[in-house]
Amino acid sequence: MSGNGNSRVSSTESMDPKGSDERSIVNIADVRALGQEAAERLVAAKTQEALRFEAARWLGGDGRLRRLFERMKQIEPAERKAFGQAINGAKKAIEAAVAEAESRLRRDSLARELAVAPLDITLPGRCGAPGTFHPVLATGRELIELFRSLGFEAVSGPQVDTYGHNFTFLGFPKDHPATDMQDSFFVAGGGAGDARLLLRTHTSNVQVQEMHRREPPMAVVSAGAVFRRDDDITHSPMFYQLEGFHIAKGISFAHLRGTLTRFVQALFGADRAVRLRPSYFPFVEPGAELDISCPFCEPNRSCRVCKDSGWVEVLGCGMIHPNVFEPAGIDYERYSGFAFGLGVDRLAMLRYGVRDIRWLYANDPAFLSNFPAYVAGGA
Ligand code: FA5
Repeated sequence: MSGNGNSRVSSTESMDPKGSDERSIVNIADVRALGQEAAERLVAAKTQEALRFEAARWLGGDGRLRRLFERMKQIEPAERKAFGQAINGAKKAIEAAVAEAESRLRRDSLARELAVAPLDITLPGRCGAPGTFHPVLATGRELIELFRSLGFEAVSGPQVDTYGHNFTFLGFPKDHPATDMQDSFFVAGGGAGDARLLLRTHTSNVQVQEMHRREPPMAVVSAGAVFRRDDDITHSPMFYQLEGFHIAKGISFAHLRGTLTRFVQALFGADRAVRLRPSYFPFVEPGAELDISCPFCEPNRSCRVCKDSGWVEVLGCGMIHPNVFEPAGIDYERYSGFAFGLGVDRLAMLRYGVRDIRWLYANDPAFLSNFPAYVAGGA
């Protein structure tokens, strides 16, 4: 029943926790030797994983100590108590070895981390560059806020609209070049006649939409993307416009001029030269264009932006034509109104000194990161 416990135990090299060696261990000395061997193996564990494996092998639900307990009934009754105490003693020794091995492994791993990657916890943290609004969007938002402060209400309008809203109700004759296939993007299969769908070519469609659905007085602004078959350094196929119109009793060209002067001064300062130049749009009479003195011109050098004219056009405007009021059911004997449509991209270019409109849509982070962050409520 007894034997050389040490030699038996030391022959237990199998990693199999279900090893059968404890079947032959039935004396106290063997149990102690087993505990001793377990402690040595645990202390030698080199990784947390190896330690967990060894701990389970000895202490686990199906571990070797449990199986020793199960053998108690084979022990002479007189020896059982001492045998049980020996097993408990072995268990304590093994638990202490696990705890010691755990703290040693933790210390080792900390020492390794400190040796390999010296860490300066006083270094400031690194964070990604904060995002901000695109210069066109920032300019558009700022303009909306400015016009709101002048009493205009901001609304949104559809980017895909009918031929009627974009052209016919604004008095465009059927043969106007803008209505040509070359200048507008039509939606394939999008209706016929005035119901035909297209990507709006300007924000003046919002004038039509709003006049047809509400009664004067009204003062409205609306900004958004518009689309044309254009592409050069001051013209993009997709760009942003802001439409503004004010319809009430007694509105005159003086109100238009006052509103536009206020907006130019707010954006560019009081010294930027502006001029109103007569122009034609089918939906206004009289009509005009507003130019701003070119900020890109340099002495004795040719300027590609203004083509040496010294002026850059930023908007079209005028007094709303009776032909636009009439189908909307607005009595043009009682009411009058002004309207303007400005190029938001153009203004962003002038404001930030961008010489080519296409840079605004090139998605180049180096270019875009040059712009100051825009904060709502104050630029
Ligand atoms: C219009 O679009 C008229 N709807 C404006 C209007 C509204 C007139 C209300 C009268 C009353 P125009 O085609 O000129 O007008 O465009 C207005 C502004 O948009 C131009 O002054 C210019 O600043 C800008 N713009 C025009 N085409 C482009 C383009 N391809 N790329 C960038 N900006 C453009």
